[in-house]
Amino acid sequence: MTGTQDSKRTAVRVVRGGPVLVEGPVDIELPDGSHVQSDRFMVAVCACGRSKNYPLCDTSHRKRRRRTAD
Ligand code: FES
Repeated sequence: MTGTQDSKRTAVRVVRGGPVLVEGPVDIELPDGSHVQSDRFMVAVCACGRSKNYPLCDTSHRKRRRRTAD
């Protein structure tokens, strides 16, 4: 099933180089067993690991890294 939506399925969208967008509200379970909840309509889950608000995206994936001097 491509490009269609089933009302019983949760829509998830992967942003290249960015977060995974999930329809909220959500309960995210972390590897240590703790949970993070969000009641937002659309929740951006960090997939890059750079968020200071992990597991939620804080747009840190957009920041460019400084180039080192040659
Ligand atoms: S995906 Fe946005 S900060 Fe990680």
